[in-house]
Amino acid sequence: MCGIFGLISQELVSSSDVLKSLKHLEYRGYDSYGIATDTGLFEKDVGEIKLTSSNNCNIAISQTRWATHGGVTKENAHPHHDCTGNVLIVHNGIIENYMEIKENLQTLGHKFQSETDSEVIAHYFEEGIKAQNVEETISDFFNEAKGTFSVLLFIKGSDRLYAFKRDSPLVIGIGNRGFFIASDPYAFSQLTQDVVFLEDDEYAVLTKSRFSIFDKSGKELSRGKNKIELQKEESRGKYEHFMLKEIHEQPESAEKLLESLETRQKENLLAIADAIKNSQKAIFVASGTSYYASLLGVYFLKKAGIESQAIIASEFKDYANCNEALVIALSQSGETMDVIDALKHAKQGSARIASFVNVPYSTIQRMSDLSLQTEAGQEICVASTKSFSNQIILLLTIAKELGYKINLRKIAGEIKSVFALENGIRTLAHGLKDKHDIYIIGRGLSYPVSREIALKLKEISYIHAEGMMGGELKHGTLALIEKDTPVIALIDNNESIVSNVREAQARGARIIALTNRKEKLFEEEIKIAAESDAGFAILATIVGQLLAYYIAKEKGLPIDKPRNLSKSVTVL
Ligand code: M6R
Repeated sequence: MCGIFGLISQELVSSSDVLKSLKHLEYRGYDSYGIATDTGLFEKDVGEIKLTSSNNCNIAISQTRWATHGGVTKENAHPHHDCTGNVLIVHNGIIENYMEIKENLQTLGHKFQSETDSEVIAHYFEEGIKAQNVEETISDFFNEAKGTFSVLLFIKGSDRLYAFKRDSPLVIGIGNRGFFIASDPYAFSQLTQDVVFLEDDEYAVLTKSRFSIFDKSGKELSRGKNKIELQKEESRGKYEHFMLKEIHEQPESAEKLLESLETRQKENLLAIADAIKNSQKAIFVASGTSYYASLLGVYFLKKAGIESQAIIASEFKDYANCNEALVIALSQSGETMDVIDALKHAKQGSARIASFVNVPYSTIQRMSDLSLQTEAGQEICVASTKSFSNQIILLLTIAKELGYKINLRKIAGEIKSVFALENGIRTLAHGLKDKHDIYIIGRGLSYPVSREIALKLKEISYIHAEGMMGGELKHGTLALIEKDTPVIALIDNNESIVSNVREAQARGARIIALTNRKEKLFEEEIKIAAESDAGFAILATIVGQLLAYYIAKEKGLPIDKPRNLSKSVTVL
């Protein structure tokens, strides 16, 4: 994961401004950070980015880290340098064969200061440029390194900034007086809209007045620039956390999406619906929350008479036969490496790629033959909330094009009705905050919702939670139900779920029913005003989001940046 940001400028730039840009990438990893400049600054620390640095520079590289190799320490934070301290690098990705490279370098006398895979890059270049220039060493690195990398490198005393990448993203921003380069355009979207994306196995050489892009063999490439418009979300407004703000934004984001699907995105919507109808098979691929949304996609398409399947991205290669398939990727970030890897695999065969992404210009969108945007707006909290409900609405709209009967006109109003339940959910959160385990059960379209609510409880509230098919309880998990074990039961119109809930209740479970049924079934109930089953899925999820939020708040947890996680998961 990690976010990297660098710049080369004709004017002096303050290091705190560099870190301000880096801060926009903090959602990619936030356990430590650092910066190095051509004017001698070399600063790193653990924890979130502090903007107190004061140094003026023309070249800077910086990184915000999500640890993979080596613990969260100052030594392991980026930038890294070689033995002389002259070669400085920041890296996003994993050098899989770093041990082999490191051992070779150690036999040549190199001493390492960190436990990271990344540090080998600096030493590799120290060794390489003894015999050849930096460009030639980049070509060698492409041939020798295995794994994923986007790297920014500069050498003290030189007036060039180098960037090279494989799999991890890199984008150049064209400024008035120089260039920016970052893991994604959010880092500099407030400074320029003109960007150039680097593709895999390419490198860029940037000076203060121009930049050139080369393939890995050193052949210069011509590349047009793109103009991007990114809506950047900076403030939490009246909300204490981005998570709560993003939960509350769901009525507006739903309306925005629906409006775009009737206008700007109409053509692409019809093209994707057509591609699904005409494909031999449709396979959804996604991770985490987006995977649960894609399970709902399978459900909705089935209702429209179309068979499809959803395969979790990290297992895609072993489970999907995607010849002649339409592979549909769902991703908030558009950068999830498991999904990118699955799509690369699919592309090797005869699959076509469609995607639903929230972040425009993201790698997954650029890899796709057809793409729709989920239009949820920037989501800052690590936990996906508004992007999930918009993924569902998007899937419903496609299913509707294909014959599923659903009326989405009232969905924004239905979502708003959940917020009237917030005080009750807060009280429930207080009562559940010390529980070690919570079970959530559902059937049919409530099954993916149960998984999604469990994920929210785990990542935000740090409570072990299991979301499962109600019918599966009796096949094993029922053994874990004791007196007062909380079981959140998602009771929509599916008839069998009530029997499953009774089975748990008979073993002493505390049943918390989340239902849109009129009749009273259980003592403890949260009634949601969903008219359709699909509406139930969205509204029940939002109750789950609020529950996870208020439990985490009761526990004083770092809600927007939960431990060990990052918003954009760019490693395999
Ligand atoms: O950006 P993506 O939708 O591809 O991300 C997939 C998962 O990493 C993501 O949904 C993750 O599970 C969230 N933290 C869940 O809230």
